[in-house]
Amino acid sequence: MADDLTLGAVGCGNLAKALIGRWLAAGTLPAARIAACTAHAESAEQVRASLGIACSLDLRTAAQAQVVLLAFKPQQRGDLLPQLAELAAERPETIWVSLLAGVPVAELEHRLGPQAKVVRWMPNTPVRLGLGAVAMCTGRQVDAADRQTALGLLEPLGQHYLLDEAAFDAFTAVAGCGPAYVFALCEALEHAAMAAQLPAAMATDLVRQTLIGAAALLQQSALTAGELRAQVTSKGGMTEAALARLQAGGWADLMTAAVAAAQQRARALADTKPS
Ligand SMILES: NC(=O)c1ccc[n+]([C@@H]2O[C@H](COP(=O)([O-])OP(=O)(O)OC[C@H]3O[C@@H](n4cnc5c(N)ncnc54)[C@H](OP(=O)(O)O)[C@@H]3O)[C@@H](O)[C@H]2O)c1
Repeated sequence: MADDLTLGAVGCGNLAKALIGRWLAAGTLPAARIAACTAHAESAEQVRASLGIACSLDLRTAAQAQVVLLAFKPQQRGDLLPQLAELAAERPETIWVSLLAGVPVAELEHRLGPQAKVVRWMPNTPVRLGLGAVAMCTGRQVDAADRQTALGLLEPLGQHYLLDEAAFDAFTAVAGCGPAYVFALCEALEHAAMAAQLPAAMATDLVRQTLIGAAALLQQSALTAGELRAQVTSKGGMTEAALARLQAGGWADLMTAAVAAAQQRARALADTKPS
């Protein structure tokens, strides 16, 4: 990572704050080299207070950096990308890192101009702890040095995957939405614990600890999830009875259908017209 790298964020909501928070915590970039912009004065103030970076309503200031995160909602691209295209023409060395779900690199290159260096990322929210999964693909103008710059920023975020853009929706349906599936599983297990007469406060704590323990086992063991499951499942025992009930309810098929539904939604969202 270059010692003088500057970063801008056009939009600084949930995801940009998580990324910038991680880079600050990891020492990847100092606050003084990061500038962001938002749509509303209150959110700019909140960003300044929580991250200690410069944040204003001025898009041009935020987009003066060497690397600029496109961190607004995909629906806002019709309004914002034409304004950024002027800057992209003036500053052909800028690396534009798009976080916009469902928006292809080719569209960004078209809207920012053919000379624009476009990188596309799909992160999930555990990036804020350095435990994220991030997919990356790059546009036609991105060279080896630009790719190194982008990889240097990815490194503190967790695992990254260089992925063909055609697989981005599938990646998002698994890793982007995945934390929500796990949280939904925890909620269901909490309800089940309360139905089994455990006190509510204990149910919440117990489920959290069970998830943390299982995740740590998965991370630290050389065994697969299936092998770890088998270790907990004695022949004729309680876990086997519970898993048989889940399987009878179509548990695994439902997960496959859920991921397919997320992918289908991504295609529908990509087809919605930008503002
Ligand atoms: N959240 C996730 O887990 C996640 C995961 C993967 C990808 N993404 C992608 O990341 C992007 C950001 O998502 P998010 O969840 O962080 O959204 P968000 O919390 O709604 O943040 C959007 C940001 O854009 C700003 N903004 C809106 N209009 C603007 C304008 N005209 N000029 C400057 N800034 C403007 C908003 O400012 P105000 O707050 O002042 O309105 C806000 O700071 C989206 O494209 C999404 O597809 C998100």
